[in-house]
Amino acid sequence: MNQVDYLRISLIDRCNFRCQYCMPEGAELDYILRQQLLTNEELLTLIQAVFIPVGFTRFRLTGGEPLLRPGVVDLVQAIASLPQSQDLSMTTNGFLLAGMAQELYSAGLRRINISLDSLEPEIFDQIIGNRGRARWQKVWDGIQAAYQVGFDPLKLNVVVIPGVNDHEVMDLAALTIERQWHVRFIEFMPIGNAQMFSDQGWVPSAELRQRIRARWGLTESQVRGSGPADVFQIPGAKGTLGFISQMSECFCDRCNRMRLSADGWLRPCLLNESNQIDLKTALRAGTDPAELRSQVIQLLALKPEINFKQRESGTTGAYSRTMSQIGG
Ligand code: GTP
Ligand code: 5AD
Ligand code: SF4
Repeated sequence: MNQVDYLRISLIDRCNFRCQYCMPEGAELDYILRQQLLTNEELLTLIQAVFIPVGFTRFRLTGGEPLLRPGVVDLVQAIASLPQSQDLSMTTNGFLLAGMAQELYSAGLRRINISLDSLEPEIFDQIIGNRGRARWQKVWDGIQAAYQVGFDPLKLNVVVIPGVNDHEVMDLAALTIERQWHVRFIEFMPIGNAQMFSDQGWVPSAELRQRIRARWGLTESQVRGSGPADVFQIPGAKGTLGFISQMSECFCDRCNRMRLSADGWLRPCLLNESNQIDLKTALRAGTDPAELRSQVIQLLALKPEINFKQRESGTTGAYSRTMSQIGG
């Protein structure tokens, strides 16, 4: 059985983008009320008294958009300084990154994954649901800042959507040739925007690899991360190409992670709503951390059966929490 030692922590469910693939169209999401968010102190208690003792050593901060969380730099510093925390990373849309990259790095963050679905500002704005000022440049500046400050690895996430950005795959892949960036192509998953998923569909990673291989060649990389991506490389390129292929090559049998929502629900699977535990209510009721640990240990034992294939039939795209509320 896989060791489950990686916790994705959603710091806030709000986002300053409205990416089409991530949120239901036109929906008004019910945001978590401030008093329902785990405080930094509660989060640190859960990490130290519950998650680390049961074997979690790697933590990824997500959102919504994690950089919107007040006090995010202090939280990074606190988690990074825990001796048992072996890996601390963040997934962000990059919009606020240019101004924050240095302080995040100084606080101890070392890895960062940034969404970049298009190199064409107009398409980018269309994807992120932006009707105002152009935002692509600010995200691009954020990526450059993160690179200059020294984040390594620096990963760029592309959700490939037929008819929207699939014509850009070669240009996005080419970014890895001269730069030590890691571009990952993600198969659109049926959570976030069920309507768009059924209208547009998804592109199998094998098809993308074939297109890339025909142009430049493609080798399987020596570096096999511990995440869901299969890693390849254009021969001679400085960076790598990752493929996250939940739809065509389900990777649940090597799943090593759980998710904690901003209001303290522990979720064993991104794509299966079963068996979530409300840690915040228990913590606020004064439950002994030993009891919380035993609940998490029980959930760890059940986890192999809670996955994409075993979710209740008929739940495709009908999740009570959408992608932006879970944090990917
Ligand atoms: P590292 O490997 O630690 O760098 O991170 P990651 O690739 O897992 O994290 P990131 O937040 O960049 O996620 C990239 C994509 O992979 C997003 O679309 C996530 O929703 C998806 N993803 C991450 N983990 C899982 C998982 O366990 N299951 C599924 N189905 N998708 C996942
Ligand atoms: N399918 C696949 N990936 C998604 N993401 C958001 N929604 C979806 C979806 N429906 C990705 C974002 C971000 C990460 C956290 O999740 O691109 O990089
Ligand atoms: Fe893990 Fe669920 Fe993702 Fe499968 S779908 S890899 S079980 S989180």
